[in-house]
Amino acid sequence: MKYIELNEIDSTNAYISEKLSAGEITEPTTVYTASQTKGKGMGQNIWVSNDNQNALFSIALFTEIKTEEIFKVSLATSMAIFEFLKIKGIKTKIKWPNDIYYEGKKLGGILIENKLDGNMVKASIIGVGINLNQEKFPKWLPNPISLKNITGETYDIKDFVIEISERVEKKLNEIKDIPFADLRLDYLLNLYKFGEIAIWKIQGIKDEISGSIVDVKPSGKIVVQAVSGQLCECEVKQIKLVDD
Ligand code: BTN
Repeated sequence: MKYIELNEIDSTNAYISEKLSAGEITEPTTVYTASQTKGKGMGQNIWVSNDNQNALFSIALFTEIKTEEIFKVSLATSMAIFEFLKIKGIKTKIKWPNDIYYEGKKLGGILIENKLDGNMVKASIIGVGINLNQEKFPKWLPNPISLKNITGETYDIKDFVIEISERVEKKLNEIKDIPFADLRLDYLLNLYKFGEIAIWKIQGIKDEISGSIVDVKPSGKIVVQAVSGQLCECEVKQIKLVDD
């Protein structure tokens, strides 16, 4: 893995995306920064972080995965982070599709953007934000938490970036050729609210429903079974956990 350190950038994902399109990144590369001026979150969200306090990085990997199994990139990333934190004694959960949660609070987020070629994922930009040393967050953020909030310790940002980047690359190589059916249970068992009844808002359905996560598909769709027995297979944009 090659490492590029930047003092400040709009977004490490955007930086890698431009360099990939220009053919300037041709090998596995991690770009990390002390400060993002326009950090991107999932959907329309922004990612906010104090300067010099948190892990803000993106990994460019040349994935060569079929688009129908695109969720393997997400799964490898969230599982690699989950496993690393577990070794450090921090028991997290993955909130579908790939947030890192600690006791119901958001410790980290992942934003994956893929470069496709036909039915193949040619390159993945795996953006990771993990709250390490920041102790206070803006009031409007729903439920943030940092490692320092959890343990009281101060963390070395660069060590984190390197360790996670290496682990994500290794994990993706390991699982790339394993059938998704053989990977899903390990992911599901570490998923926030898996097998628990929760309240969901599903696009196009007026009332909120009670139901539980029962499966995840290779595309990344989640399968929620309502208490009525009805099954809903949903994409990220279509479903939201209420009161999480
Ligand atoms: C989310 O939970 O909404 C995803 C957040 C991803 C944030 C990281 S920070 C480093 C990288 N660069 C970005 O602009 N976003 C990702």
